[in-house]
Amino acid sequence: MTILVSGGAGFIGGNFVLDWLAGSDEAVINVDKLTYAGNLDTLKLLEGDVRHIFVRADIGDREAICRLLMEHEPRAVINFAAESHVDRSIHGPGDFIQTNVVGTFNLLETVRAYWNELPADEKGAFRFLHVSTDEVYGTLEANDPPFSETNTFEPNSPYSASKAASDHLVRAWHHTYGLPVLTTNCSNNYGPYHFPEKLIPLVILNALNGKPLPIYGDGQQIRDWLYVKDHCSAIRRVLEAGKVGETYNVGGWNEKANLDVVKTICSLLDELQPRADGQGYAAQITYVTDRPGHDRRYAIDARKLERELGWKPAETFESGIRKTVEWYLANQAWVSNVTSGAYREWVSTQYGA
Ligand code: NAD
Ligand code: TYD
Repeated sequence: MTILVSGGAGFIGGNFVLDWLAGSDEAVINVDKLTYAGNLDTLKLLEGDVRHIFVRADIGDREAICRLLMEHEPRAVINFAAESHVDRSIHGPGDFIQTNVVGTFNLLETVRAYWNELPADEKGAFRFLHVSTDEVYGTLEANDPPFSETNTFEPNSPYSASKAASDHLVRAWHHTYGLPVLTTNCSNNYGPYHFPEKLIPLVILNALNGKPLPIYGDGQQIRDWLYVKDHCSAIRRVLEAGKVGETYNVGGWNEKANLDVVKTICSLLDELQPRADGQGYAAQITYVTDRPGHDRRYAIDARKLERELGWKPAETFESGIRKTVEWYLANQAWVSNVTSGAYREWVSTQYGA
């Protein structure tokens, strides 16, 4: 048996492939376009492993994806591939529409054609699992209940609007064509192999390099953080036992204000790798202009996944963030490989000199 994963050279997809093959001998066909966010270094541990077949391709390339489906006959497709960075979506939304909307549409059509031709028993067992975000639900006020699966979609950024569109397409391909889909909407992830344009890895690396730690606006925006390996275990569980056509919210009940997250990282670094001048890393905190249309608060109600499928996160924020900081300290080679050209260009676009 085989699964096909798209976007498996990115942050979550890469962790998913590594964890999958650590726990199973079922082969993975890994399809990734290798944009600036895709890093084969993340998959280095799998070099020479016959259970992992990496193919560079765009999810929107129907011919390439069709060939792979016919050749490997996967029992499931898990779609991680996306443009995923809110700030980049504000500077240039076109790629987000192209991959997240048009790409997902093309992938659905290619998979539908393959699925239609499967023998009845394989057709019934096949799954298309679409990995999405809590950002499709919009933003919460301080006292609102967390997002549940029945919240309306009110996306506010080009990124979240493009992901909401992709979720709608996935839903429609089930209702109209019967494609056996599952959708997960997860909160903010953090952990190993996270590209350092996002808050947590950016702050760890800037701190170590003596650079400012940029806090947008007042730093009181709230995110609900989940350790990436817990997201991966949730996806495995939904793939295994999720009810076709359903969506599942995934979260860790870890709501934190950005400023508190940054201060926690500073304290961990003070303990694990203190600054040479004896000052704390928090001295590097710098307030910068807020993101346009910045969502104030995200929070996930993950009770459906717990109640129906028995899933719970293994890490608390405290244990997960410590592991993450330790991982970045121990993996400087990965960091220096991914922080070359394209990364430096982005940093100067976003934060100036
Ligand atoms: P990422 O940006 O780190 O990785 C995305 C991967 O997709 C990269 O390897 C990239 O090369 C690849 N890719 C991009 N366009 C492609 C295309 N057209 N065809 C094939 N491959 C393409 O993103 P991530 O953080 O790993 O997120 C993975 C998925 O999870 C996304 O769908 C994202 O919306 C969703 N998600 C992310 C988070 C988070 O906090 N990072 C939270 C919830 C949901
Ligand atoms: P990010 O990691 O980009 O994820 P998302 O926008 O998908 O939630 O940002 C997390 C939070 O941190 C978000 O509220 C924006 C904020 N942020 C900063 O304050 N400074 C930064 O330099 C970055 C990248 C993010």
